[in-house]
Amino acid sequence: MCGIIGYVGSRQAKEILIDGLTRLEYRGYDSAGLVTLNDGAVIVKTEGKVDELKKRLENKPVDGKIGIAHTRWATHGEPSERNAHPHSDEKRQIFVVHNGIIENYKHLKDELIKKGHKFASDTDTEVLAHLIEEDYKGNLEQAVASALSLVRGTYGLAVISCLETDKIVVARSGSPLLVGLGNDENIVASDVSAIIRYTKEVVYLEEREIAVVKKDGFHSFSGKSAKDRVALVEWEIEQAEKGGFPHFMLKEIFEQPKVVEDSIRGRLIEEDGLAKLGGLEEVKDRLGKCERLIITACGTAYYAGLVGEYLFEEYGGLPTEVEYASEFRYRKPIIERDKTAFLAISQSGETADTLAAVCEAKRKGALVLGIVNVVGSTIARETDAGVYNHAGPEIGVASTKAFISQLAVLFLFTLMIGRQREMSFVTGRKIAGHIKRLPNQINSILTQDEKIKEIAQKYAKYNDFLYISRKYNFPIALEGALKLKEISYIHAEGYPSGEMKHGPIALIDENFPTIAIIPKDSVYEKTISNLEEIKARKGKIIAVATEGDEEIQNVADDVIYIPETLEMLTPIFSVVPLQLLAYYIAVIRGKDVDKPRNLAKSVTVE
Ligand code: G6P
Repeated sequence: MCGIIGYVGSRQAKEILIDGLTRLEYRGYDSAGLVTLNDGAVIVKTEGKVDELKKRLENKPVDGKIGIAHTRWATHGEPSERNAHPHSDEKRQIFVVHNGIIENYKHLKDELIKKGHKFASDTDTEVLAHLIEEDYKGNLEQAVASALSLVRGTYGLAVISCLETDKIVVARSGSPLLVGLGNDENIVASDVSAIIRYTKEVVYLEEREIAVVKKDGFHSFSGKSAKDRVALVEWEIEQAEKGGFPHFMLKEIFEQPKVVEDSIRGRLIEEDGLAKLGGLEEVKDRLGKCERLIITACGTAYYAGLVGEYLFEEYGGLPTEVEYASEFRYRKPIIERDKTAFLAISQSGETADTLAAVCEAKRKGALVLGIVNVVGSTIARETDAGVYNHAGPEIGVASTKAFISQLAVLFLFTLMIGRQREMSFVTGRKIAGHIKRLPNQINSILTQDEKIKEIAQKYAKYNDFLYISRKYNFPIALEGALKLKEISYIHAEGYPSGEMKHGPIALIDENFPTIAIIPKDSVYEKTISNLEEIKARKGKIIAVATEGDEEIQNVADDVIYIPETLEMLTPIFSVVPLQLLAYYIAVIRGKDVDKPRNLAKSVTVE
């Protein structure tokens, strides 16, 4: 949540800071600001999106070859200009941009007020600027270190000062921060998408690390030199741009065939009915001995986990449970050392609750695995072993292609553990053959884009939607409802079809449409009966059904067809029309699809 960018080098900082903020905006967008240093400090802040900041900067001389900037997702203090970062001390000599939450800020603020400090905002971050000022004795990094020793909470931060204009001091604890290494310049950021235009060489800050970044160097308090830690970012700048699509979300939906191809590339051994996941090779034997799997995640990734539960139990023979990370971390989970495996699923690899759950599972002795998209992210580093999704950067706040890639990896995972346990070669080969065909088949769903747009036109006026399904597609009902809620702000609920009679059917009337995911699977007839019950109560029905199923037309008002595949693989198809439907309904209702209100791409605070 929130985005940080900082520049020190031989160019003017302003352009790089603004470009960085634009690319980071998906992390938070309720206010933004920057400060550059030249003969003095120039600070510009606004409420609203980065475009507002750009307008404010027009015709304003903002010189300086060093600066820091921030785009905010409010935690403490309403979104406003005064609460926008950077924050400073009273003398306006020390400037801080911060992601995370300073949990003991009230106590620290009271102490500072007693010492005569006056505060200009309602934020927890401002406390840091005052603390650094209080501790400043001629060396900025020392002052930052002693200020941070008083702080409880999470932070990724960048600090500059008029008193030492050649350096940015950076620090992290529970919130990501990295340094992009350039020629005669260095860029700090909370996310690689902000720096890939300038450099592919990055150093990821470690937990509780403090470092000084200058135009020609990086010096860590830990003593570790940058040279031994440089990682190469594989993402290309084009992947973080819209490429002719009106929104990132639509672009990312259309990228999905390629994403699935990338996720399975080199990992599927069709002729042997096997999957080889390089990142898990080292722990494969340990995993083979585990008797139970706990999957944890948040948001869309949690729904991928729910699909995983059906897969692992039916085809992997592995007892599996799935839990929201925010709940797992506060329970007293029963983990048997060497017998329990733990799998975290996270696109960003930075979600605070998922990370905390990972740490808890590790502490209790589980074998901790991850399915993570962002290479080098905290969860990727904290887990014992894992698999990268290879979905490329996902910018749209509502997750689409990352979800699809999580499913693809879960399919491979199932094949791997299944074949390790009881799955026969014949079953393995059949599954592998179907997985291989997925990218082309997803393409064929995307060709129905226009038809889905028409259906969206017809239904965009409704204010409530029910999503139902059974078995493998029940999690997709939840995900479909979440997509609609997130970007169109329409009330939508996902339910297992079998639960209809236990409550939701009371809602059904001609103004409450149902979206039913009903592929030709082992529970088809059961769901048809549920649809009949809805129809009998004048409920409108949009069905996502298998190509060739004409019977469904007798009960549904509109049908979107998906290709035939194995029942276990159907979720990767059925989610695609639901993503498009949510997208078009949101566009028709005039919503900001890529930056839905109150949301942020990566939830790095609890
Ligand atoms: C936020 C995002 C969702 C995402 C969830 C989990 O809520 O808006 O799209 O599914 O976080 O994020 P993660 O990065 O852990 O997958």
